[in-house]
Amino acid sequence: MELRLTSDEVVKIKEGEDIYTALKRAGIYLTASCGGKGACGKCRVRIIDGKTEIKSYGKLTHIERESNIVLACQTLPNGDLLIEIPKESRLVVGDKIAVARTKDLAGYLKSYGVGINPTVKRLPLNLPPATITDNISDLDRLRRALDEQGIKGMRFSHEFVAELADALRRADWNMELVYVEGQGIPAEAIFLTPLEGCNRRYGIAVDIGTTTVVVYLVNLVNGEVVDIGSTYNSQMRHGDDVITRIVHATEGGGLNELQEAVVKDINTIVDSLMERHDIKSCEVDAATVSGNTTMSHIFWGLDPGSIREEPYIPTLNFFPMWRGGTARLSINPQSPVYTVPCVASYVGGDIVAGVLATKMHRNPEVALFMDIGTNGEIAIGNNEWLMTAACSMGPCFEGSGIRCGMRATAGAIESVKIDTETCEPEISVIGGGLPMGICGSGMIDAISEMFLNGIIDRKGKFVKGKTGRIREGEEGAEFVFYKDERRRKDIVLTEADVENIIRAKAALYAGIKTLLAEVGFTMDAVEKVYIAGGFGNYINVEKAILLGMLPDIPKERFVFMGNTSITGAYLCLLSEELRKEAEDITSKMTYIELSVYRSFMDEYMSALFLPHTDMSQFPTAAGMIK
Ligand code: FES
Repeated sequence: MELRLTSDEVVKIKEGEDIYTALKRAGIYLTASCGGKGACGKCRVRIIDGKTEIKSYGKLTHIERESNIVLACQTLPNGDLLIEIPKESRLVVGDKIAVARTKDLAGYLKSYGVGINPTVKRLPLNLPPATITDNISDLDRLRRALDEQGIKGMRFSHEFVAELADALRRADWNMELVYVEGQGIPAEAIFLTPLEGCNRRYGIAVDIGTTTVVVYLVNLVNGEVVDIGSTYNSQMRHGDDVITRIVHATEGGGLNELQEAVVKDINTIVDSLMERHDIKSCEVDAATVSGNTTMSHIFWGLDPGSIREEPYIPTLNFFPMWRGGTARLSINPQSPVYTVPCVASYVGGDIVAGVLATKMHRNPEVALFMDIGTNGEIAIGNNEWLMTAACSMGPCFEGSGIRCGMRATAGAIESVKIDTETCEPEISVIGGGLPMGICGSGMIDAISEMFLNGIIDRKGKFVKGKTGRIREGEEGAEFVFYKDERRRKDIVLTEADVENIIRAKAALYAGIKTLLAEVGFTMDAVEKVYIAGGFGNYINVEKAILLGMLPDIPKERFVFMGNTSITGAYLCLLSEELRKEAEDITSKMTYIELSVYRSFMDEYMSALFLPHTDMSQFPTAAGMIK
């Protein structure tokens, strides 16, 4: 059977196969937040011609069904088909993403009071050539030279020794030894490089996010970020959030597929950065990766299955310094790859890197760090103690589970203002074109504006009759932000969406309160709030406070940090001392599992209102509500 697309592509489809699987097999990817389980409603395609067997319509509206829209993952062809993939359903993960160049990171590194001191070092060696009279073995000759420089006990892997005879003679006994040495890491030779042609020193810092992959090419001598590359994490073809990815990893061949996807993403960026700057692989000494626990496991090809099953135990938190070749990175296969350690199954290296990047572990003031992405991770503490927890917010702020939700890319409504008199919304769209959906920051704006203008009440229920923009949709009441007559797809927020978002913000706020209560503090004690993650650059604090998502403390205490995972990876790449500091943060951080705290449930229930049941916790918001 054949699946023909209006874009002229033709895909073979096997007996009993659904459209989503057939397209995926052919390298055509659809937005599939739930990984093809029929739950997210994102993999919509239009049947133009042919017969189908539909297992479920899921969340599709009547209008969509009448327009022959189906869920690709729930639809099997009965013969040849002609289909159309709407623009918003196509997943183009290879797209480059604009990444703001972080402030002067070399200067920021200096502010830690540490020098540039990577764990990977280089030592120039000029060995006397072997002769009949000086006839010790190659390895003994190398050892003798190291002894003379006071370096004892270096280890030599089989791979290193296997290359030794050739490398020494090729370099005419005059070369650099690249080796790794650090606190808790015994000196080990990595490779030999000739003095000419391979003597510049670079490193790669990588942030493996659930949604995006970011790579910094770093000069290991002066700390300069030479160039930056980024892309969407291609694992999104198999689902949006970590749980869906874990499920996929545990299905036949899924782990390999996910590992290959992310390694290919990283290699594509690394290759283009190296080509652009004319860098050879022998000039890339080391790499550092930072990601959540699931991403770190998958990157190394480790089964993440136990992360999602009680008692939620990862295979490991502290990763040995494995080699680039083991990860199949396109740098020198012998170059060591440092993985920022993880704290627990749901608090990973990205959070440790984040804490390191904020310096909160060095300062006496009590600070709160939060990374809001597909999950909400929180850390609280100072230079004496650190506590952390993860709250399951669900991926709604990334667009999943929200009727017109989407990630913050071109076409997403990112901010909303509602006119007090007319209740007419004024929207701003990323990229300035027609809106295709609404992203996380747009949702926060929209709900707080609807609340401020009396369109929804404190429980998030629509106040019917308040404005003509409230209408009865197939899933209950909805507010229309944009009417699209042509595509018959209006951009709305439904009452169920609002409920979803309130649940997510309640989980985050309850997590913060529970962590603080655990150490006997209240919100007033928090002197700084560091916000990282996808929201790290453009959340509107006042509106998030009005929603009850962020604590009602003075605005000046909030600091937007952007992508702290990559900043932490950069710091660990360049400084042995900061790598050690990251490990100390990990060991010092007490992880609490919120689900076993009764008080978390109580806090959660109280936070299921706008902004909260207890208005005394939100005095600023109370003053704004009419
Ligand atoms: S409904 Fe098809 S991928 Fe989620």
